Parts: sequence; C-alpha cells; structure tokens
Amino acid sequence: MDLDLKLIGRGALFHDLGKAKTHEIEHGKIDAEMGKALGLPEEITAIMEKHIRGGLTEEEARELGLPVKDYTLKTLDEKIVIYAD
Ligand SMILES: [Fe+2]
Repeated sequence: MDLDLKLIGRGALFHDLGKAKTHEIEHGKIDAEMGKALGLPEEITAIMEKHIRGGLTEEEARELGLPVKDYTLKTLDEKIVIYAD
C-alpha cells in the first residue's frame, strides 16, 4: 500500500485541535479553520474537518446542523486516522 505516514501522523496529532475551543460537534469545523489559520495543508485540514462520526454525507451534515457538504472519507490515509479515532 502507498501510505503517507507523515500525513497520517500529522492528521492524528491535529485532528481534535478544535477541542481547545469546544467539545461540541462543530469542533471538526473549528479544527479545520484553526488548521487553515496555521497554514496546515489541505490534506490535514480535510482529516480535521471530516473526522466527526467517521465521515458524514451531506444529509447527515444537514441533520447535525453542520455546513452542508460531503464529509465522506476518500483516501486510505484519512480512513486510517479517522477509523482509529
Ligand atoms: Fe474529535
């Protein structure tokens, strides 16, 4: 398998950064905002944003009151971090 171990490690390290501000469900969105402000690459901020409940469909995001978008997991790297979480 072609895994990016550096990305997996960084995603695991930063995935709950938003919990510094809240432990509510929107912490994934806040994670990504904080990661972007720190200049983290999109591959990491995607992990941060998508890790809520193992990835969400647009409909699930709507039901949870999150910004409506596709939070489903696309890469093996993000699946490893998020399933481990
Ligand atoms: Fe979390």
